[in-house]
Amino acid sequence: MKAPAPLAFALLFSLALPALSQAPLPHLTRRGAVTHLVVDGKPWLSLGGELLNNAASTAGNVRGAWAGLASLNLNTVLVGVGWNWTEPEEGRFDFSAVDEALREARSRRLRVVLLWFGSWKNGTSSYAPAWVKRNWRKYPIARDRNGNGREILSPLSTANRDADARAYAALLRHLREVDSATRTVILVQLENEVGLLGDSRDHCQEADAAFAAPVPTELTDYLRKNRDALLPETRKLWDAAGGKASGTWEQVFGPGPGADEAFMAWHYARYMNHLAALGKKEYPLPVFVNAWLVQPQDKQPGDYPSGGPQAHNHDFWRAGAPRVDILAPDIYLADFAGIGALYSRGGNPLFIPETRAGAANAFYAVGQLNAQMFSPFGIERQPAAGPLAKAYAVLSQLAPVILEHQGTNTMRAVVVESGAASQKIQLGDYVFDCAVRRGWNAGPSDARRGYAILIQTAPDEFWAAGATLNIRFASMRAGTPLASLASVEEGAFENGAWVVGRYLAGDDTGMGGDDRASLRLPADPRILRFSLYSYR
Ligand code: DGJ
Repeated sequence: MKAPAPLAFALLFSLALPALSQAPLPHLTRRGAVTHLVVDGKPWLSLGGELLNNAASTAGNVRGAWAGLASLNLNTVLVGVGWNWTEPEEGRFDFSAVDEALREARSRRLRVVLLWFGSWKNGTSSYAPAWVKRNWRKYPIARDRNGNGREILSPLSTANRDADARAYAALLRHLREVDSATRTVILVQLENEVGLLGDSRDHCQEADAAFAAPVPTELTDYLRKNRDALLPETRKLWDAAGGKASGTWEQVFGPGPGADEAFMAWHYARYMNHLAALGKKEYPLPVFVNAWLVQPQDKQPGDYPSGGPQAHNHDFWRAGAPRVDILAPDIYLADFAGIGALYSRGGNPLFIPETRAGAANAFYAVGQLNAQMFSPFGIERQPAAGPLAKAYAVLSQLAPVILEHQGTNTMRAVVVESGAASQKIQLGDYVFDCAVRRGWNAGPSDARRGYAILIQTAPDEFWAAGATLNIRFASMRAGTPLASLASVEEGAFENGAWVVGRYLAGDDTGMGGDDRASLRLPADPRILRFSLYSYR
């Protein structure tokens, strides 16, 4: 029936209304070598923290979990959403805890990253609802080579995939309905640290059949077309088996754990690509997956989750999951910089959804590794006014400047251990010699790590932000090898504008050797604006 004109107009208006009130959708955008997350139309540096796994499992518990966050100076909170509590009975969805988390976040002006704990969490399926777990004949589990069942849903099963995808799509549909106006949720993590534990590949019936079949042409085509751009790890595996363009998994990748892991990576990627695609159809937020990294004691895949998005598996994930935007590392290992570099290959944007709460690493991640997110795990356990809170207070002020300089040659970060040799970095015509120089600036809490971000804004103009560091200068200019401080301001950004608190010289800068002044960043992180000059 045709609606009368006023009703048709009202209908049209009511349909148009939500569109008018919508904020721009968070999305990723590439600028040179760096990919930014755009929130409210501007690049967004996520100074985050991940809540403990079950903090948001009920509305009541969510409220308690957020109490201490205000003093940590975060702008982003990562919140787990369990499949088990959102779909307690098949087809009955309960998003009340998510809604409460969004209310709490909005009232604190925080953005949220939702972590979908669906089929897998830390490799296993502990967050699958009881109705899935109990019906293991319908929702098959992975099996090791001896046929033993594991509490891990098989990624080879379309029944598993479709059940998970229905719930995940329902969550994204719900977000579209409740969050389009504010865009509190800026990003979604799909599953958590996936991969098979206990064996290098799944041996359930579906898996054995797929493993004996030819490698899908989508994958072999990808390898052929991208041969020269493949990661060295992929090239090594493929070349060692003869670089074949077709064949079974063992023919193309050689018998052994390498083929097993490639097979698992491909199937996890396909499964998650399916979820990502259905979710984006409902509400197209950017999506990432996170990796449980290979630990030093691990001997083979299965000791760590086989086929997860570990760095050496990225080609399989890129080929199998084009709808997944980011492959992210959970960094609990010591080699923070090395892992950051491995996760920046092939244009992958660096987001660190889980790590330890270290002020130095937070600075290094965003200032040197071009990270877009830094997020310690168990954030509600962080002390108010602790090192992380102080670091975030500085980084949040400097975030627009950091984002502007990421991917250019005008920004560097350093982390220097106490007692280690000084580190020299060059910016423009100047060399910065950075060290934890004890004595004149030693205090009870500045005995360990020094760190700083240094940014050049004009030939002689710089920002320094950090702590526990002494920086001496030299010049590369012909004829004027000596360099020193022309001026130093200590201050803060207020509503985006730099406000000088003090002008520094004398006791508040250091002796940089001879009679030259050096920059002093004491134990509490701060921002300094300074200019240099060169002479002889
Ligand atoms: C890594 C997982 O991704 C987190 O959910 C949590 O289980 C931590 N490990 C615990 O350290």
